[in-house]
Amino acid sequence: MQNLSITFLGHSAFELKTPGGKTLLFDPWYTGNPSFPAGMTPKAADLILVSHGHSDHITDAAAMAKATGATVVGCWEVVTWLGTKGVQHVEPMNKGGTIHAAGLRITMTEAVHSSSFDDNGVVYLGEPAGFVITLENGQVIYYAGDTGLFGDMKLIAELYKPDIAFLPIGDRFTMGPDTAAMAARWLGVKQVVPMHFGTFPMLTGTPDQLEALLAGSGIAVLRLKPGETAQ
Ligand code: NI
Ligand code: MN
Repeated sequence: MQNLSITFLGHSAFELKTPGGKTLLFDPWYTGNPSFPAGMTPKAADLILVSHGHSDHITDAAAMAKATGATVVGCWEVVTWLGTKGVQHVEPMNKGGTIHAAGLRITMTEAVHSSSFDDNGVVYLGEPAGFVITLENGQVIYYAGDTGLFGDMKLIAELYKPDIAFLPIGDRFTMGPDTAAMAARWLGVKQVVPMHFGTFPMLTGTPDQLEALLAGSGIAVLRLKPGETAQ
């Protein structure tokens, strides 16, 4: 098996290559994303995971699903709506449920946020969510989506024992560095991948702040610039 590879595509968009060779896209927002690295639109994908319906997470989901034939995993309302946009392969879920897709175990978790799309008027798209994914080598990742800090992250730690957490740190619409640092401690992870920062001036939280808050904790902050890959 290969090492997990994580490529940051700006904002909350990531391309992961799993130890078993599957390609996962998280919250694909490439078109109009100021932090998207030009020319890095993924060519292939097995799964596209969508945390919620906001445009900065879902704008390219339908196009990527059609271009790659990938299955979109998301909340019932989100994937049903994507179906009306021509997406053929979907795995609808809701919180607390687990599925097996592309050889991976995927659980949908809580997120404290909202979920809608502005499509000639605001369309309700169910509830925002996060994902816990068990990879082929037993490594567990937690992708929090957009969320504030919530106490049941302790339950996520107890149930799934994640190794790596993808946490929003930009503040205003999600956790900031202070609450993300607390989340990382509660989750008991070895590594945090910060996301949802710096894309717009309104997102003020920074990886520097997160790193300072986690100094001495033994939790590493994986700092990726858009377009960079960690293996
Ligand atoms: Ni959002
Ligand atoms: Mn967002």
